[in-house]
Amino acid sequence: MSLEINSYQEYQEHYQRSVENPSLFWEDIANHFFWRKKWDKVLENDWSIPLTKWFTGAQLNITENCLDRHLEERGDQTAIIWEPNDPKDKAQHVTYKRLHSKVCTFSNVLKKNGVQKGDRVCIYMPMVLELAVAVLACARIGAIHSVVFAGFSATALAARINDASCKVLLTADGGFRGDKITPLKDIADEALKECPTIEKTIVFKRTKQHVSWNPSMDVWWHKEVEKVDDVCPAEVMNAEDMLFILYTSGSTGKPKGMVHTCGGYMVYTTYSFKNVFQYKEGDVYWCSADIGWITGHSYIVYGPLAAGATTVMFEGVPSYPDFGRFWEVCEKHKVTQFYTAPTAIRALAKHPISLVEKYDLSSIKTLGTVGEPINEEAWHWYDDHVGKNKCPIVDTWWQTETGGMMISSMAGITKDKPTYATLPLPGIQPVLLDGEGKEIQETEAEGIVAIKHPWPSLARTIYGNHERYKNVYFSAYPNYYFPGDGALRDADGNYRITGRVDDVVIVSGHNLGTAPIENAINEHEKIVESAVVGFPHDIKGNALYAYVITYDGVEEKPELIDEIKQVVANTIGPIAKPDKIQFVKGLPKTRSGKIMRRILRKIASNDTSNLGDVSTLLNPEVVQDIIDHKL
Ligand code: PRX
Repeated sequence: MSLEINSYQEYQEHYQRSVENPSLFWEDIANHFFWRKKWDKVLENDWSIPLTKWFTGAQLNITENCLDRHLEERGDQTAIIWEPNDPKDKAQHVTYKRLHSKVCTFSNVLKKNGVQKGDRVCIYMPMVLELAVAVLACARIGAIHSVVFAGFSATALAARINDASCKVLLTADGGFRGDKITPLKDIADEALKECPTIEKTIVFKRTKQHVSWNPSMDVWWHKEVEKVDDVCPAEVMNAEDMLFILYTSGSTGKPKGMVHTCGGYMVYTTYSFKNVFQYKEGDVYWCSADIGWITGHSYIVYGPLAAGATTVMFEGVPSYPDFGRFWEVCEKHKVTQFYTAPTAIRALAKHPISLVEKYDLSSIKTLGTVGEPINEEAWHWYDDHVGKNKCPIVDTWWQTETGGMMISSMAGITKDKPTYATLPLPGIQPVLLDGEGKEIQETEAEGIVAIKHPWPSLARTIYGNHERYKNVYFSAYPNYYFPGDGALRDADGNYRITGRVDDVVIVSGHNLGTAPIENAINEHEKIVESAVVGFPHDIKGNALYAYVITYDGVEEKPELIDEIKQVVANTIGPIAKPDKIQFVKGLPKTRSGKIMRRILRKIASNDTSNLGDVSTLLNPEVVQDIIDHKL
């Protein structure tokens, strides 16, 4: 079976084969990659444990697939176009040959600094080229990378470093984002006060700002690379060895370190990349995400590079120096596939259309979105003004946990439909479940999404907590993978994801668990208790609304609101700051003491007509009081 799908008929053939005989199908697809040793068994699966293994017995190194195997055929082709924050600075075009050399060099730097196969390396870096190099260098020597988005706070960084007992931290002096500079080394220093396992910090110089220096731990990136050569054979990994850990918010408790493994992840991200975006020789693909999120891992670095593509990496933000920046970059690099988040589209749509029309976007063939449901208005704005009604839009539904895109149209191959992610990719068997967990048989229906059969890039566990992996994803509906989203299905079988069915809120495409935010707020000495819910927001999709109870005698001044926001920013990161904070006398609770978030969600969304029966609450009187003082 070919790796590429070039027609609707081929999509159907791939899909049918992937359902009828998943092992044979994925074996065919996997045969298109470079393995040091082929598998003994394609799939072992038992979701009652849960256990999923793909390509057991096989050996490979993913960087040999992303780099070495391209050298002969496309060594001089650009692998990464790096576009700096400031458009006045020069973009870099890095060929596969050069990238290979840089990765091998940095692999040697890691080794020289004590990193061995199996060690965890935390990467807290801005979107510089070296971030991609760092990720690949870890993979090359079999170290497990854990990239932490450079917008997270010191506390959040420390928690992630400690959860995985990381040995080395890779960071930068600072990071440019628009007209702001993030003092990454300072934040890292703060975090490291609580991180006993870190032995070395390798610091990339980007902003040239002053940083404090601990000579027994800190080394400069640029000095280290001078001390080693660029020859570094790739470590031979088992298909099921860990490739990376990436944290995602849970609805309760601490973030979950999702574990992805080498073989299946490589096969699935490459296959889905090539086919969903219909990437062809000579194309220039740009995903505007940050490598700190799964979208960047799978569809800036691994998928595109394994497919031999030219992938753009953008250091900046869509609003700098003005709201035309995305389109300026598309014109400049003649981007053919552009992949971004609905929240960015909504933000850009608020600005004059001349900022789009100023640029020649005729190179664009395909548009993509990811991260949250896209509303009709944003979809049409994207289609009309960016795609000029001639580019298919792939609305790709997936998760950190799924490793790759699950439900999406394939550009020009299967039909798109505004606000619908549409059809499952080959290998993906979604179903809708009713409230009792039974599969809904009617095609046209609404329910809870579940997935029936494993696919190669499913996360295999939560780092250090397999029990939690089982509880979150495999317990509510035995023998299904439960992603936590609801969906509608139309008469043609197209899926429209409607949103989370748990206490995770997606704000500007970022997954935020409400419980950790409440915990952060409750840390404030003047706060007794809080409840955080999401409410619809024009640009962010959702925003956060916090209901907060203060101690008796505390004056509820505006400064307290700022302090609460600051506590959240310090504990989690600025993205988790609530938009609205309302002081309340009490929170509606069930008789067993559980906060009735459903009611709070409705009030925050201005939907108080149908609150249901509140008389069974422990304290029904608080509801009216909250409504009366709603912000
Ligand atoms: O609710 C879904 C939403 O984002 C969640 C996954 O978030 P995260 O792990 O951060 O990964 C985001 C990037 C893959 C999902 O459970 N989501 C993601 N893509 C879509 C979406 N909701 C609707 N439509 C999408 N295309």
